[in-house]
Amino acid sequence: MTSQERTVAVLGAGTMGSGIATVTVRAGYRTLIHDLDDARVARGVDTVRGFLAKSAKLGKLTEEQAAEASARVEGTTELKDLAGAGVVIEAIFEDLAAKRDLFGRLDDIVGKDTLFHTNTSTLSVTGIAAGSALPERVVGTHYCNPAPLMKLVEVADGRHTASWAHEATIEFLASVGKTTVVTKDRPGFIVNRFLIPWENSCIQALENGLGTKESIDAAVTGALGHPMGPFKLLDVVGLDIHQQVATRLYEQLRDPKFFPPPMVDRMVAAGDLGRKTGRGFYTYDDNRLFGS
Ligand SMILES: NC(=O)c1ccc[n+]([C@@H]2O[C@H](COP(=O)([O-])OP(=O)(O)OC[C@H]3O[C@@H](n4cnc5c(N)ncnc54)[C@H](O)[C@@H]3O)[C@@H](O)[C@H]2O)c1
Repeated sequence: MTSQERTVAVLGAGTMGSGIATVTVRAGYRTLIHDLDDARVARGVDTVRGFLAKSAKLGKLTEEQAAEASARVEGTTELKDLAGAGVVIEAIFEDLAAKRDLFGRLDDIVGKDTLFHTNTSTLSVTGIAAGSALPERVVGTHYCNPAPLMKLVEVADGRHTASWAHEATIEFLASVGKTTVVTKDRPGFIVNRFLIPWENSCIQALENGLGTKESIDAAVTGALGHPMGPFKLLDVVGLDIHQQVATRLYEQLRDPKFFPPPMVDRMVAAGDLGRKTGRGFYTYDDNRLFGS
């Protein structure tokens, strides 16, 4: 394999970007994380290294594997540093104009056969792809959060996605240990069509006093077999992200079950966004973005 094929660029060093970078370094890819400023880049790189160190402590990786994987991640605020990437994975804010702009700027920096993956939750893959002069290279790859722990990635082609890009994407995702489901470029893909209304109903149950956050989380993990209860999960996802995804799906699908309950607005207004701010439904004394 060439160094281009072994190099991944991750755009956005937040919850998803740092989670996805953890996946790619673990799978042996040199990974460059790009964000708007040095502090965000450093936090993303630290999150990746922290997760790998914890994996070694838990015996999921050897110390040597964790050290090797940690050495594969680097950070940058300069797009030109991403020139050698074979795959670019976009995980920036859920903003159509920003995502389009970034892909357009990267057209002039990376090779013509570099894949552009977008991790959008609610925007049209076709709309984002239109920012690139080569929309055939753009594929929707919707990772589940937390990306290092969840195996599934939804794959959605845009209107102009080429079959070579689709196939190379499936192959790439298999090479980083993910299983894929192919879906359509539609609001919410498959997972969020089910997950968002369900999370909203758990929040409503809490608001109505059906249980505490602890008892509802325990009921879901104990009886439904989920690895994480809804409130632990929402703290990982981020209440701001849940509010945004839920509202955008409601706006597009016009179905009230997607509309976020008022408790979400109050938590966002208070800055209780979950793990990333140290407080959401639960409180946290570390700055990790994911993990139990
Ligand atoms: N949080 C989730 O559960 C989840 C799950 C699947 C997909 N997604 C999607 O992944 C994307 C990222 O979500 P997140 O939760 O990681 O958000 P986040 O707010 O945690 O991180 C976004 C990061 O992108 C950076 N950024 C913004 N504009 C940028 C630009 N122009 N160039 C470089 N970096 C830029 C921000 O500084 C920030 O660090 C969104 O599209 C979201 O819809 C989120």
